[in-house]
Amino acid sequence: MLDQFLDQCTYVSGVYDQDSGFQALEKELQRVEAETKTVDRLYYMALPPSVFIPVANGLKKNCYTTRGVNRLIVEKPFGMDLESSRTLSKALGALYREDEIYRIDHYLGKEMVKNIMILRFTNQIFGSCWDKEHISNVQITFKEKIGTEGRGGYFDEFGIMRDVMQNHLFQILSLIAMEAPATLSAEDIRNAKVDVLRKIPPVVESEVLLGQYGKSEDGSLPSYLDDDTVPKGSKTATFAAAAFHIHHPRWEGVPFVLKCGKALDQQKVEIRIQFKDLGNNLFQKDVAARNELVIRVQPEEAVYLKMTQKLPGLGMETVMSELDLSYHSRFPNMSVPDAYENLILDAIMGEQSNFVRSDELDEAWRIFTPVLHKIDRGLVPVEIYPYGSRGPKHLPEFVSRFGFERHSQA
Ligand code: BG6
Repeated sequence: MLDQFLDQCTYVSGVYDQDSGFQALEKELQRVEAETKTVDRLYYMALPPSVFIPVANGLKKNCYTTRGVNRLIVEKPFGMDLESSRTLSKALGALYREDEIYRIDHYLGKEMVKNIMILRFTNQIFGSCWDKEHISNVQITFKEKIGTEGRGGYFDEFGIMRDVMQNHLFQILSLIAMEAPATLSAEDIRNAKVDVLRKIPPVVESEVLLGQYGKSEDGSLPSYLDDDTVPKGSKTATFAAAAFHIHHPRWEGVPFVLKCGKALDQQKVEIRIQFKDLGNNLFQKDVAARNELVIRVQPEEAVYLKMTQKLPGLGMETVMSELDLSYHSRFPNMSVPDAYENLILDAIMGEQSNFVRSDELDEAWRIFTPVLHKIDRGLVPVEIYPYGSRGPKHLPEFVSRFGFERHSQA
């Protein structure tokens, strides 16, 4: 199968800002199209942002077909802040229509991220308690065990907030927080996501915690600054936590805390919806801890609900246990497709629901830009945490400020 695929691949080289390479590509495309009787074209731009526009321009000028559709997949980063993202969108928008542009955020292709809408809108049990009356806070966490390890050049310019939070985690937030879309069309889904983003004021510096990894406790693992690809003395954050507030009747007073970091103790991405304390006097908090719905995006996809039940035996003691839907035990013979597999197929099919629309991007940058500018100017302190730890020392205090209570087994 792989050989069959590779047999159909050809390589055409060229220079980003010269027509000759694009003309050679056009010639090759015409040859392939005549041979395979195909007409549609999908271009995938995994390129440094500085050459996005020259390449999009070269493709438009030399390789835009009038016989079928043209689609352009664009990889992040989509700018550095609101202004640069708008400049990019404007330049791209002058060349291609919005329905031709596929801004990829590979988190939207992950199985469990695609599952969020289904969980919320097909299960009465969740739909009816998805609000401020029932939910205390929402935590969205991204943890990587590895550091930058040679990718410091790219990373240092962006930092963890731009690299992971403003895009991947924010897409998850909008799916968790949005109202039900009017229909399942790409436009309605993206309208619902933008609507909720519009209700979020910019994140403030006092609600941000930053960190950079130092050497591991035993000194065996290197600090961020030990990475040769990282500029000396860099203050770039490799860990960030931030709180977001949604001024919508459903969510008023429910903080959404997003956390992401490299060189931590675990490798995992999860969404933790923490419900409120019980409103009755029969059982006290120490015997009936808060419910939590956990959606584990990776590794080992799972959805589980932490709940209290009776400890088997003669007494009336309680125990926190889990209603557990682990994918590998529930669907042992099914493989979960890779995020890119999902998204590239969507792009081939012309399905845009899981691609980022320009207004979504604009809203996300509006929310992040003021604090990012302060961070860029070194105005937000960055705490050093050991490689392989849980993150900055002040993290537990930070999350508890926003109502999070850690279960003993969490
Ligand atoms: C990328 C970031 O977008 O996502 C990386 O640039 C990060 O820094 C990666 O490691 C995480 O993706 P995944 O699919 O491995 O969770």
